[in-house]
Amino acid sequence: MHRDDASPHRQLDNAHVWHPFTAMSPYVLEDAPIITHAEGFHLFDEQGRRYLDGHSSLWCNVHGHRVSELDAALIEQIGRVSHSTLLGIANDRSIELAAELVKLAPEGLTRVFYTDCGAAGVEAALKMAWQYHRQKPVSEDRRLFACLDQSYHGDTVGAVSVGGIDQFHSLFGGMTFPALRLPTPAAALAPPPHQVPLETILSQTEHLLDQHAQELAAVIVEPLVQAAAGVLVHPPGYLRELRRLTKSRGILLIADEIAVGFGRTGTLLACEQEEVVPDLLVLSKGLTGGYLPLAATLATEEIFAAFGGQPWEGRTFFHGHTYTGNPLACAVALASIRRFETHGVLENARLIEQRLAARLSHWKSSSPPWMSHVGEVRHRGTMAALDLVAKHEPLTLFPREMRAGHRVTLACRKRGVILRNIGDTVILYPAPAMPLELVNELLDCVAESIAEVMAALGS
Ligand SMILES: Cc1ncc(COP(=O)(O)O)c(C=O)c1O
Repeated sequence: MHRDDASPHRQLDNAHVWHPFTAMSPYVLEDAPIITHAEGFHLFDEQGRRYLDGHSSLWCNVHGHRVSELDAALIEQIGRVSHSTLLGIANDRSIELAAELVKLAPEGLTRVFYTDCGAAGVEAALKMAWQYHRQKPVSEDRRLFACLDQSYHGDTVGAVSVGGIDQFHSLFGGMTFPALRLPTPAAALAPPPHQVPLETILSQTEHLLDQHAQELAAVIVEPLVQAAAGVLVHPPGYLRELRRLTKSRGILLIADEIAVGFGRTGTLLACEQEEVVPDLLVLSKGLTGGYLPLAATLATEEIFAAFGGQPWEGRTFFHGHTYTGNPLACAVALASIRRFETHGVLENARLIEQRLAARLSHWKSSSPPWMSHVGEVRHRGTMAALDLVAKHEPLTLFPREMRAGHRVTLACRKRGVILRNIGDTVILYPAPAMPLELVNELLDCVAESIAEVMAALGS
């Protein structure tokens, strides 16, 4: 099961904790760090080893760890109340946060519904869209949802239904509802010969929407970047066009900004960059600066109005979670939003974007030997991805059992950086507030780790 010298925590972890998205053969976790504390942008394990948090603790950390204002907001709130429900009564922090979110969201999203993780926020948006069409002034029985190829919106059954990553989602086909898959616009930025012109993608999209115009309740999309698909970047103009195509057919647009919101694309929200107002907007991850689980589904006044009426009329949104609008999570979210303004976080995110662009293009042009094992390189804002390949010409992937991406993650860990690969794609996801010298360290570490692993694989 584990080495005899494994720490008591390692033995108990191997014995009892079932880790998400993790192959649970005991040897896999044998050396996985057990994090005990953090400081700034570093995590420390129980052996006292220090790791740079290169994936923002799964894409949610914004300002670093143990940030004094955020810690103080939580401590202050603990001194008042840690939890009280929003079912039928209110709490002060969730009200203040809702008002703040309405201010920072695209104009017209005026109603805030809280849940406690990204998937639950998506689930709420899907159910709202379904119920809205039935209860709007001229009711319609729209039963179909559409998502993009390779989309990821979370792991609950509704969110999986609008998922397009076969490795994660196909097994659950029997328990999910069918969804229409639209072509991903990322193909417009793929290298030849895989590139598809944006006009072709849009006309295919329009055709599919036309075929199902009367059935579609909503299209769900990650604005600008499909993060979990491996940082698939969308070409400029796609989101705006998708908004136009959906609006003109009475189809709602759900923007999932769980991974791309809160500075990851260089603006607070990604929708801003195309001046798009979705009908429903889902926020989570960076909403609390990466401190506590919280999600918010924002809706327009028009959608909200369809749920009005007396209790006996049955128009209520019968959906909610025990920890909905948790005051601790809302308090730290308020402190996190304030810090965006006081600490120039967006300016820093834009510097990170420039640094990633410069270093990645230098790797491409200087072409060190290990770059012969890097296929596509994609980046946008503070997010970047490198696809590992066995060979460029002809394009040959590594056999899955070689676990090339995982090996690079382990090589990074040995050098004191925590990252998470998605298959053979290495993902860099520094926090929007990470100082540039640490971003440089992250990049150096990735380059050295890929070089080491490729040499070891005998390439
Ligand atoms: C775009 C997107 N939507 C939804 C989710 C699900 O969020 P959670 O893991 O908090 O349920 C994720 C998580 O990575 C995500 O990246």
